[in-house]
Amino acid sequence: MRDSELITAARKARRNAHAAFSGFKVGAALETSDGTIVTGCNIENATYGLTLCAERVAMFKALSEGHRRFRRVAVVADTQAPTPPCGACRQILWEFGGDLEVILANLRRETGRHRLSHLLPLPFDARLLT
Ligand code: THU
Repeated sequence: MRDSELITAARKARRNAHAAFSGFKVGAALETSDGTIVTGCNIENATYGLTLCAERVAMFKALSEGHRRFRRVAVVADTQAPTPPCGACRQILWEFGGDLEVILANLRRETGRHRLSHLLPLPFDARLLT
């Protein structure tokens, strides 16, 4: 699958964002190991604190549909500067997705590309719970 396909899916998912409080809409698209794309968008609510980011929505959707292996994730926001995953999302993406390639983009162009292990060095994960 081309990068542009994954980014396009994240842009499309972003349109469904429920960002009534921040106005900051984000879309994410996860590529599974069999080439399936699972998308997510941020969902805010009146308590603010229960907000779910686009990346976690995408990952939880994918897990609940039975996917367990992932290759890449694209994250799209309408910003000139790159919008990287927040700390909570880095943790969840790492635990369930491993060392994903993280592609960042805005509505027009790619804004960055990273390995998740570079965004989350020295992670805490299940290997430590032995
Ligand atoms: N947000 C995401 O969905 N993903 C990110 O990578 C950064 C932040 C959301 C959470 C909240 O709804 C809004 O953006 C502002 O923080």
